[in-house]
Amino acid sequence: MKSSTMQGARILATGSSVPDSYINNHKISEMVDTSDEWIVTRTGIKERRLLTGTNQSIIDLAVLAAIRALNKASMNPLKIDLIILATSSPNDLFGSASQLQAKIGAYKAVAFDLTAACSGFVLGIVTASQFIQNGTYQNILVVGADVLSKWTDWSDRSTCILFGDGAGAAIVQACSIKDNGILGFQLNTDGTQYNKLSIAYKEEMYPHPTLQLFQGSFKYITMNGKEVYKFAVSKVPSSILECLKLLNISTNDIDWLLLHQANERILNAVADKLSIHSSKLISNLSQYGNTSAASIPLALDEALAENKIKKDDIIVISGFGAGLTWGTVIIKW
Ligand code: COA
Repeated sequence: MKSSTMQGARILATGSSVPDSYINNHKISEMVDTSDEWIVTRTGIKERRLLTGTNQSIIDLAVLAAIRALNKASMNPLKIDLIILATSSPNDLFGSASQLQAKIGAYKAVAFDLTAACSGFVLGIVTASQFIQNGTYQNILVVGADVLSKWTDWSDRSTCILFGDGAGAAIVQACSIKDNGILGFQLNTDGTQYNKLSIAYKEEMYPHPTLQLFQGSFKYITMNGKEVYKFAVSKVPSSILECLKLLNISTNDIDWLLLHQANERILNAVADKLSIHSSKLISNLSQYGNTSAASIPLALDEALAENKIKKDDIIVISGFGAGLTWGTVIIKW
């Protein structure tokens, strides 16, 4: 922590929420030319949750995750100063965080969206820690939520096997400097590679007849899987090592490695590169697939519920994905 830091920041409580409906690999193999065996071998994913039905949106998932975190902390929502909703699949392009603010009754909180795909939760936690450590705010709700099933081309076997829906929340609270739990971070963006993974805005073929204005809409996820795989396996370990070096922490001191849940092979390859034993990897990918900004807080919440994480454990958290963006935040629990 820098010497200008006014106070410490730590994660006080977490919560998560996933839809009830799910689709397993067998069902997907009835829709596209694939198989359970192919998907499990290449990704580790067995099933994913889908937000189906009408009148349900990403906000319903985000609200439930947030309320669960607030309940665990026994916190009145009016105590929240800031809400950061990390999502790339909002239900309003002007921002969805204000709906979350209203629905949980956090009327005193400023609320904004943060768009950074699968790195969104890491960026959200880092942003929250800055607002707290510089003394501006005391309580911040960070929610990672995505419903990428809405943006998936369900006839494209190279992407539809990967993604699922969910939300995870964390309350970041001020504490004394000696109890600081958000130790440091390392963040990156490479915009030259933006088209490797994208939900692009596409213009219509013909302009508005009077205005000569081209309008359009967002379509489906497109991805170069091989390139994204190579990117993750090479850049994530470097980010982690750089962050550990900044904090003078050795890989031997790591208790848990919590990576964005994209692909079991990516998780194992990163752990191998860092010589971290697979027993320290937190993974729930087989049940949920890649839930984008939700994947890290969802896995963290489950690991806490299973009492895996103990006081003072060092957790290395890395997000990576579209942008391309990637980064690490190191936490002492
Ligand atoms: N079922 C069966 N075959 C499939 C398939 C599927 N779902 N998807 C692709 N294939 C085929 C391809 O068409 C190709 O066939 P060909 O050799 O006849 O051309 C073959 O399998 C190999 O395809 P390839 O793309 O090389 O597979 P891969 O080993 O790279 O695995 C991914 C594909 C998507 C699983 C892998 O690249 C990956 O996980 N990348 C990272 C994606 C990711 O995590 N994105 C989100 C980051 S936040």
